Parts: sequence; structure tokens; C-alpha cells
Amino acid sequence: MEFVAGKLAVIGAGLMGAGIAQVSAQAGWDVVLRDVTDAALTRGTDGIKASYDKFVAKGRLDAAEAEAALGRITATTELEAVADADIVVEAVFEKIEVKHEIFRSLDKIAKDGAVLASNTSAIPITKIAAVTERPEAVVGVHFFSPVPMMQLVELVRGYKTSDETLATARSFAESVGKTCIVVNRDVAGFVTTRLISALVVEAAKLYESGVATAEDIDLACKLGFGHAMGPLATTDLTGVDILVNATGNIYAETQDEKFAPPELMRRMVDAGDIGRKSGQGFYTY
Ligand SMILES: NC(=O)c1ccc[n+]([C@@H]2O[C@H](COP(=O)([O-])OP(=O)(O)OC[C@H]3O[C@@H](n4cnc5c(N)ncnc54)[C@H](O)[C@@H]3O)[C@@H](O)[C@H]2O)c1
Repeated sequence: MEFVAGKLAVIGAGLMGAGIAQVSAQAGWDVVLRDVTDAALTRGTDGIKASYDKFVAKGRLDAAEAEAALGRITATTELEAVADADIVVEAVFEKIEVKHEIFRSLDKIAKDGAVLASNTSAIPITKIAAVTERPEAVVGVHFFSPVPMMQLVELVRGYKTSDETLATARSFAESVGKTCIVVNRDVAGFVTTRLISALVVEAAKLYESGVATAEDIDLACKLGFGHAMGPLATTDLTGVDILVNATGNIYAETQDEKFAPPELMRRMVDAGDIGRKSGQGFYTY
């Protein structure tokens, strides 16, 4: 579907919200970027400007285009400013209470026909949609970090998401240069977190039981499967705690042993060896 860039609202000017605003403004969308404090908005818009500057310096973006894109972003603390948006993308903290509060308000404020999207990594879209009177208009639009670099968007159908909503979400994501996969059922971990969880759990078990070193397990995935990074190095980068939490949530929902966080990873979290951010994970930094 050919899509004419329209009006977009992004709720949350953090890492993901700022990235989504950045790529959308560059693609011609008029963007309202909303956060709760001016400080958060300034951090977000400063980050966007710095990123555009880098693209300009590398010759990948014209300075005039960057200027025009910045001019298409309006930062605000007023939620009412989303009223005329065609699409609203929520990218606030990964807490269901915070998302519920936002979607209850969006339900009252957003215009009829607007698509209400969440960038959640793991909260079921059906649960977010359930607090609105228009669950058919709610959809998962899961971008990856860093948004300007990562090509994938995972579109997630909630239990009541309409085909029309999914199609609009897809056109939006494609209009900002992304490639979509569709998650047809709102399962825990969607597709991407399920896949990485299964791989990380098995990699950690192989390491834990002395079958191979961390280096060799990662090399197997890099050289054998062409992965850019091995699963244990990826876990260290993302945070062992984050992966224990993600796999544990999928395990809680599915009771499928392949997602049960291995003892070693749970003990690493207890000991504070949570990866790069602590200086020690499967590797020492
Ligand atoms: N960080 C990642 O790699 C990543 C990747 C994919 C998806 N996600 C998901 O994207 C969402 C945002 O993650 P992030 O990493 O950008 O978080 P972040 O902490 O960088 O930013 C969250 C922002 O939301 C703002 N916020 C909180 N309550 C708000 C409200 N009521 N209204 C408006 N803004 C509010 C905060 O002030 C903050 O600026 C989460 O659901 C997360 O799971 C994150």
C-alpha cells in the first residue's frame, strides 16, 4: 500500500520514542513527541539532533533535509496534542500500569480511526487494548534499538486487532524504511524474544554443563550460522538480568522447559554478574 506520511504522535521521548520520532520525521511525518517533563523532551530532541548531525557528517543525509526533519518534530508535555494524529506510537516505560494509564487517556483523546500502537517488547497487546473501547485499533509495532539502524519491525496482532489496523501499522512502518514481520497471535515474547530466548537458554546450558567454552559457543553461531554476534555475548550486551526476566516470563506463560532460565544465569544475576554493564557476565569486560 502506498502511504502518504501524515500526523504521528509518539508518547515517550526515551531511547525508543526519540528513535521512532527521528526516522518518522525524516520520512516526512509531522511528529508530536510527548513526554512528562521538559527535561526528558530536551534529552530526546538533543539526541535526535545529534544523530541527524552524524548522518549528515557521514554524507548519508543532506543538511537541509535534517533541518527540515527536525522542524517537523513538535515536543510537548500535553497529551491533548495527540488529538489529530493518524497514528499514535506509545514508547513509555515497560510497566503495564503506565501503559494502561496512557491507553485509557488515548482512548478519550485520539480521533476516530486513529491507530493506537505500542512499542512494548513483551506486554501482551491484548492486555493493553483491553482498557480501551476500541481494541480493534490497538496493535503492537515493535521497533528495535537503535531505531535508525535496525531494519526490523515486529507487528503484533492483539486478540481483537483488525486487519485494517494491522495494514495501517504496516504502511507506517514501511514508510519509515522498515521491514515488517507479523505476529499473528499475541504470544509471550512474540517471535523475536521467543527465538533469542530459546537460543540463549540452550547456549547457557551448553556452557553450564561444560560442553563448550563461551567463546566456542559464540563462534559456532557466528561462523556456523552467520550470526553477527553469539548468544552469550548478546546476553552480556543486553544484560543477563534482562534475559532471565524475558525467558522467565515466557516460561511462566508457556510452562515450556526450553524457556526456563538456567540455574547459572539465575545465580549470575544474584551475584551481580549481569554482563557488560557490571563488567562481568559470560565474559570479563
Ligand atoms: N530499549 C530497547 O532496546 C527497546 C527495544 C524495543 C522495545 N522497547 C520498549 O520500548 C518502550 C520504551 O523503552 P525505552 O528503552 O525507550 O525506555 P526509556 O526509559 O529510554 O524511555 C521511556 C520514556 O517514557 C517516558 N514516560 C514515562 N511515562 C510517561 C508518560 N505517562 N507519558 C509520556 N512519557 C512517559 C519517560 O520519561 C522516558 O523518557 C518499552 O516498552 C520497552 O520495552 C525497548
